[in-house]
Amino acid sequence: MEVILAKHAGFCFGVKRATHLAFDAADRRGDTYTLGPIIHSPQVVQRLEEMGVKSVENVSDIDNGSTVIIRSHGVAAEELEAAVRANLEIVDATCPFVKKAQEHVATLSSEGYDVVVVGDAVHPEVQGIVSYATGRVYVVSSGKDVERLPRMAKMGVVAQTTQSFEHLNEVVAACLARGGETRVYNTICDATAVRQEETKKLAGEVDCMIVIGGFNSANTRRLTQICRELLPRTHHIETAGQIDPAWFEGVQRVGVTAGASTPKWLIDEVTERISAIDRDKIG
Ligand code: F3S
Repeated sequence: MEVILAKHAGFCFGVKRATHLAFDAADRRGDTYTLGPIIHSPQVVQRLEEMGVKSVENVSDIDNGSTVIIRSHGVAAEELEAAVRANLEIVDATCPFVKKAQEHVATLSSEGYDVVVVGDAVHPEVQGIVSYATGRVYVVSSGKDVERLPRMAKMGVVAQTTQSFEHLNEVVAACLARGGETRVYNTICDATAVRQEETKKLAGEVDCMIVIGGFNSANTRRLTQICRELLPRTHHIETAGQIDPAWFEGVQRVGVTAGASTPKWLIDEVTERISAIDRDKIG
C-alpha cells in the first residue's frame, strides 16, 4: 500500500510560530496561561496543560504577574489592554497576518472610513479584528449583506484571513456598486487555499483519504468535506489510535492530509500506524 502525504499537511506559519512561543513560555515554568485554547488541537492543548499551561476564558481569571500567551488568531483590543493593566507578561503569538488586518482596521477608522469586515461574525479572529475599529464597523458574509448596510461615504474593506478570494471579490463588487469611496486591503492568507487545493488533487488520485486534525478545527472539517465530496472513503481522525484497519481493505494508495493546527508528531504517528497495518497484512 502506498501512503502519500500532502506536501503542506499540518501547521501553517502562524500556528507553528504560536505553538513554538507557547512551548517556549511553558519551558520557563512560571505561571502561564492562554486565553482560550492556543490552537484547535486538543492534543497540543493537553501537552501544554501537562507542562502547567492553563487555558482560561478571561484576563480576570489570571493572577497578577503571570504570563499570558495570546493565541494565533488574536484577541480583542480590550483584552490586550486588560492584560497590560493586570501587569501580565504578554507573549503575543498573534499571527502577523492577523495583526496586519487588525492594524488596517485601526488605520481605516482613524482616517474616517466605516469598516466592512468580510468574515464569520462569531469567529474569535473576526471579533478581535472588529475590536480595533474606533468608528462604525460591520461584519458581512456576502454581497447581499452589503446591500443592507446604512449609507456610507467612505468604506474600508478587510477580510478574515481564511476567507476565499472569490468571497472578498463578491463583497468588494457590492461595495463599489453602492458608490462612494472604497478602500480595500486584501488580508487573506493563502495557507488555507493552498491546503484545500492540494487536498482536492490528492483525493482524486487515491483510494482512501485520512484527514488528521481536531474535531473542533473548522479548517480540518472543511478538508474532510472537500475529500468526501470526491471520495466517500474519507476518514477524519485526531490520533493514530482511531484508525480502523478495515478502512484499508482493497486499498492500493492512501492519501494523508492534516489541518493547519495539526502538529507533525501526530501526522508521523498516523503514517507509521498505516504502514504497520500494511506490514501486518502482508506478514
Ligand atoms: Fe496565520 Fe494564515 Fe495560519 S493567517 S495562523 S498563517 S492560516
